[in-house]
Amino acid sequence: MCGIVGYIGPRDATPIILNGLKRLEYRGYDSAGLAVLQDGVIEVRRNAGKLARLVSLVEQSPVSGQVGIGHTRWATHGEPSTRNAHPHVGETGEVVVVHNGIVENFLELRDELSAEGVNFSSETDTEVIVQLLDRYLGAGCNLVEAAGNTLAVLKGAHGIVMFSSREPDKIVAARIGNAGGVVIGKGEGEMFVASDIPAILEHTRQMIFLESGQMAVVMRETVDVQELNGTRVDYEVHTVSWDPVSAEKGEYRHFMEKEIHEQVRSLTDTIAGRVDFDKMSIRLGQLNLTPELAKRVQKMVIIACGTAANAGGVGKVLIERIARLPVEVDIASEFRYRDPIVDEQTVVLAISQSGETADTLAAMAEARQKGAVLWSIVNAIGSQAMRIADGYISMQTGPEIGVASTKAYTAPLVDLYMLAVHLADMREILNDKSRRQLIADLRLIPDLVGRCLDREGQVKDVAYALKDVAHCLYLGRGINMPTAYEGALKLKEISYIHAEGYPAGEMKHGPIALIDEDMPVVVIAPRDPWYEKMLSQVEQAKARGGIVIAVATDGDDRIANIADHVLWVPETPWLLGPVTTIIPLQLLAYHIAALRGLDVDQPRNLAKSVTVE
Ligand code: AGP
Repeated sequence: MCGIVGYIGPRDATPIILNGLKRLEYRGYDSAGLAVLQDGVIEVRRNAGKLARLVSLVEQSPVSGQVGIGHTRWATHGEPSTRNAHPHVGETGEVVVVHNGIVENFLELRDELSAEGVNFSSETDTEVIVQLLDRYLGAGCNLVEAAGNTLAVLKGAHGIVMFSSREPDKIVAARIGNAGGVVIGKGEGEMFVASDIPAILEHTRQMIFLESGQMAVVMRETVDVQELNGTRVDYEVHTVSWDPVSAEKGEYRHFMEKEIHEQVRSLTDTIAGRVDFDKMSIRLGQLNLTPELAKRVQKMVIIACGTAANAGGVGKVLIERIARLPVEVDIASEFRYRDPIVDEQTVVLAISQSGETADTLAAMAEARQKGAVLWSIVNAIGSQAMRIADGYISMQTGPEIGVASTKAYTAPLVDLYMLAVHLADMREILNDKSRRQLIADLRLIPDLVGRCLDREGQVKDVAYALKDVAHCLYLGRGINMPTAYEGALKLKEISYIHAEGYPAGEMKHGPIALIDEDMPVVVIAPRDPWYEKMLSQVEQAKARGGIVIAVATDGDDRIANIADHVLWVPETPWLLGPVTTIIPLQLLAYHIAALRGLDVDQPRNLAKSVTVE
C-alpha cells in the first residue's frame, strides 16, 4: 500500500530518500513526506498529492542530515491531506515514524492518550504509534524498549520505521503481520530501509527481509534483528539479482507499456533454468515436489486476488487437463473466512506478484493451519508468500512497477503450464510422446508473444475506435474464460471504463440483454477446442447490433467476415493460447487509457500491492 524508505550513513539522506520514494510511488501516491535529523532536530517536509509536490517543497525549503525516513501514502484512515501525510512526529518533537498498515485499535488508544492530555494533529491511525513512543521515551525507555512496548499494544498488521533525536545513531524498523514487507539494505558504512527492493536497488543488492514479529536496530555499520520481546535472532543476507535499470522506464512513456513489451524477455526468463530442451524435461527445484507427494495429493486449491486469480483460472484448466488433478480456484479474501475443506492431501497454491497481498497471505495462513501443503508462484524476491511456502516457483520477470499487472500475468501462465507437466511426470501419467510435445510447444512461446507485440499498430487503431465508450463486455470460453476476466480487469483499472468479463456460454442467460450498438463486445475466439461455440457467440452478439472486436487466429476469415474489428494472434498450441490472446487485450487497455490522457501507471484509488484487508 504505502512506500517507505530510510537511510543512515555518512551521506545526505534527503536525495537518497526522495529517489527511493520515486521508485516506490506506484505503491501509494495520494501524499508524501520525509523527516531528516538536521543539527540534532527532526525536520519534516510533507505534502498532499504526488511526490513531485514534495520534491518542489524540499527545493523551496531545503533540509539535510545523515539520518532520515520517507513515505508515500495510500490513505486508509484520514483523507489524503498534508496534515495526514507521513511522517508523524510525537508531541515532544523527539521521535518520528512512518507506517504501512492499519492500527485496528487506534480509536481506544487515541482516547486513552487524549485523556492523558496528548493533542493529536492528524486524523490518522498512525499518529497513536508516535504518541505512544513519545510517552515511553518520556518514561525513561530507550528507543528500542519504547518500540517494543508500543508494538505490544498495537492491533493489526504493520510495517513501521522510526528514529529519535535522542539516539541519532540508529533507525528502528519493525514488521508485524502482513502489511507489506520491510527490507534492510546493507551498504558499505551505511544502511538502507525500505518497504520494497526497487527503492534501494541502486545502492545495494544485499538485502535482509524482516519476518513478521521482528524488529531491526539499524546502525551505520551493523544490523541487529530481534523478536519484539528483545530476543536476538540470526538473519540471512540475500543477494538480489535484479538490476537497478529494470526499475527504470527507459524509452517508454509508462512502466505498463515497458512491461508489456518486456514479455518476450520475461517469458524467456521464466522458462530459463527450468526446461531442458535437450532432455525434454522440466525441473522446478524450489518446489520441493517428490513423486511420493505428487501421488499423495488429492486436490489443489489455487488462492489469489485480481490478476493473479485470473491466472489461476487458466491454471485450473492446465493442471486438470495435463496432470488430471482436481483444481478449485478461490478468491483469497473469500477462502480465508469460509472454513474451507482442505487437509494434508490438499496442495494450496498461492499466486501473487508482490507476495505481500494481505488477503493472499492470510489465506495461506489458513491453509497452513489446516495442514495443507503450501506452494506459491511469486515475483517479488524474498517476499512473505515466497518465504512462508513449503515450495515456490519464482516468476523471474524482474520488478513490475505499473499498477496494472501484465508480465506478472503471462509469466505465471507459463509457470502453471510447467507445473502441470512436472506434476503429471511425477504422477507418472504422461507418456513420453505427449511430454515431449508439451515441452516442445513451450519453446515457441517467446517468439509467438513477440509476433503479437509487433501488431501493436493494429491494436492502436481499435483503441482509437473505442476510446470514448462507457461500457465494454468481454466474452471467453474454456481456457480463455479467464482471459475475458483479465482483459476486462485491465480496461477497468486503467481507463475507468465499466468493463465486464463473462463466460461466453452464460451470455444468453442474461448479459445478452446489454448488447446494443453502444456496447462493444470483445470476444476471445482463437482456434481451440471451444472455437465453434465462440463463433456462434460472435454471430449472436452481431445479431443484436453489438460492436464486435474478436481476438482471432491468423487467417481466420470466418471471424473476419463477421467481426467489426479483429485483433489477430498467431496460431498457438491451445494449452498456451491464453499467453498470446491476452497480449492484444493488454495493449488495447493501455492505448485506450493513454488516449484518454489518464495516469496509466498510477490509476486512481489503486495501488500495486494491497497490504490491508
Ligand atoms: C492487477 O493489475 C492489479 N494490480 C491487482 O488486481 C492485483 O493483481 C492484485 O492486487 C493481486 O496482487 P498480487 O499479485 O501482488 O498478489
